[in-house]
Amino acid sequence: MEPLRVGMLGLGTVGGGVARLLSGEGERIARRAGRPIQLTTIVVRDPKRPRAIAPPPGTRLTDDPRAVLDNPELDVVVEVAGGIEPARGWMMAALRNGKDVVTANKALLAEHGADLMAEAGRTGRALAFEASVGGGVPVIHALTVALTANRVDALAAILNGTCNSILTEMTESGRSYRDALALAQAQGFAEADPTLDVDGTDTAHKLAILAWLAFDHRIGPASIPRRGIDTLDELDLRFAAELGYAVKLLAWAERREGTVAPRVAPTLVKRGTPLAEIRGPFNAIRIVGDAVGEVVLTGQGAGASPTASAVVGDLIDVATGRARLTTRFLASPPSAVPSRTASAQVVDAAIQDPRR
Ligand code: NDP
Ligand code: HSE
Repeated sequence: MEPLRVGMLGLGTVGGGVARLLSGEGERIARRAGRPIQLTTIVVRDPKRPRAIAPPPGTRLTDDPRAVLDNPELDVVVEVAGGIEPARGWMMAALRNGKDVVTANKALLAEHGADLMAEAGRTGRALAFEASVGGGVPVIHALTVALTANRVDALAAILNGTCNSILTEMTESGRSYRDALALAQAQGFAEADPTLDVDGTDTAHKLAILAWLAFDHRIGPASIPRRGIDTLDELDLRFAAELGYAVKLLAWAERREGTVAPRVAPTLVKRGTPLAEIRGPFNAIRIVGDAVGEVVLTGQGAGASPTASAVVGDLIDVATGRARLTTRFLASPPSAVPSRTASAQVVDAAIQDPRR
């Protein structure tokens, strides 16, 4: 059986996890995919730098992206380098060169997802992005496959593992904000620039993607009102705990009067309710659909192995042809749902009233 030949852009936390999973569980993955998945070429900034994760035997390590993008022997490009450029240009080139694309890059999808999806639709290739939201939690699959019979009415979610780890460490271990952030960075949860995590930008990127999939609602992440955890005080967490609440960085969006209002803010959540009990790097997404009612998905939202689970799942979907079907479904023009941007007052009310 011909293998699915993969080139990968990036060999950091996520790329390392993907390389490890593909080489360690190759036989099981080949059975599920119907053929072997072979990682042949990996692009990094500096191939000579000593690495904690060695590229698998037989894999070429290079700093030349053309070795992947222009390589006629490759079927799929996995983009796990991050950032907007050159990642956007790489993905466009890969699609134009007839390759399917798998990515974990939520910043890029939130900003340019429509253009990339249109290109994938035009070229008939797959653009798969399960790892972009929720790490190992299959929320993209839920919204694009399993729950498509529903009109989604509301979403409330913890989408950033770094922030949830920091809040958990500060509340349960008494760590300072700085120490808790350093720990999340050492564990590979944080973005290359951790400001994106703690100021709510990463959560807004992920919410923009979910709002598109759940509500057909296109909103640039910059238009989503957001507040991060970087302005919180240790006292805020202590007082919340004394009153029976956990503080969580929540992403919200609901359909109201024909519009959608997304927002991101630290929020008081009553202890004992599902989202209040999510700890460490775990994420949780509560989805309310008209037919299914309430669904809560939870699991590890960041880190090498959970994220690799999502990326390799996408590769299996590419190998079986399922990813192209999903892309075709997503590339068809959305029925636009108008935006109603939440005002600062609404965000404040959400912080003060945990029942919202
Ligand atoms: P890292 O910073 O750990 O790794 C990035 C990798 O990409 C490195 O190997 C780096 O090369 C390579 N790279 C970056 N820019 C270039 C470039 N211009 N040319 C060539 N190679 C380049 O990032 P992560 O693995 O943490 O994240 C990767 C992506 O996955 C990001 O989009 C991130 O948002 C997303 N993501 C991350 C998760 C996580 O838990 N970390 C979870 C879900 C998504 P070199 O090694 O030489 O520096
Ligand atoms: N920095 C992100 C987080 C990685 O902490 O959730 C997963 O997208």
